[in-house]
Amino acid sequence: MPASIKKPPYAGKPGPEGYNGTDVMPPEITAKMRIAGKIAREAMEAGAALIAPGVSTDAIDVAVHEYLIAHDAYPATLEYQGFPKSCCTSVNEVVCHGIPDARPLEDGDLVKIDVTAYYDGVHGDTCATYACGTLDEASQLLMERTKKAMFRGIKAVKPGRRVNVIGHVIEAYANRFGYGVVRDYTGHGCHVAFHSGLIIPHYDSARFDDMMEPGMTFTIEPMLTLGDYRTETWDDQWTVVTLDKSRCAQFEHTLVVTENGSEILT
Ligand code: MF3
Ligand code: CO
Ligand code: CO
Repeated sequence: MPASIKKPPYAGKPGPEGYNGTDVMPPEITAKMRIAGKIAREAMEAGAALIAPGVSTDAIDVAVHEYLIAHDAYPATLEYQGFPKSCCTSVNEVVCHGIPDARPLEDGDLVKIDVTAYYDGVHGDTCATYACGTLDEASQLLMERTKKAMFRGIKAVKPGRRVNVIGHVIEAYANRFGYGVVRDYTGHGCHVAFHSGLIIPHYDSARFDDMMEPGMTFTIEPMLTLGDYRTETWDDQWTVVTLDKSRCAQFEHTLVVTENGSEILT
């Protein structure tokens, strides 16, 4: 890590300090988040360009890391609560928080890459699912429909609505296909804080009734499965898998609420 790259305050600490501030950001912050978001997306794409049978997720991690630091951004996951790598790579039944490793990818693998850039004091957080070689039809459809589910959630963003509207539309769409909608991991307020405490559910829940307002910035990142929505975590304390080992797809954008909808920052 070059000394010129500014680390976030939580890097190398046991955990982030709790964030107590607002999720409504002024234009100066969202302007910086647009840059952080673009860097995160491009780093993710640089990693995704390597996906092929025989390539390891470690190689993807290196590409993401190099892209981020070449663009003056810090990989927010690196040393975040002890996470050891510069992105999350989650394959097949791994839901999220997969740790890049040396195992070669195989033809037919469903590969999620999740990158968070920390740039000039703000975060851009994005994830997409990619095919390694040729996917079976069920996985291909899951991937396409999870992306559509995310965009349906994004279209539901408007000031004056409660955040559970997002979960309502995503779950209603997922139900058409009998997909599981992961509940244990959610979207989150994301700006100067990586995870602010604001929760954006991807399922219908009256509990999450925060009102959306212009300037609010958060992620929408549905995880849909071919089976059950329940998850468990490996002994490594990070790798989250579906309880029934069914495959999972995920897409994520960071966005800002505008006067009449939202703007995607990633
Ligand atoms: N980027 C993930 C998210 O969407 C968080 C990863 S935290 C890590 O919120 F520690 F697992 F890397
Ligand atoms: Co996120
Ligand atoms: Co993410």
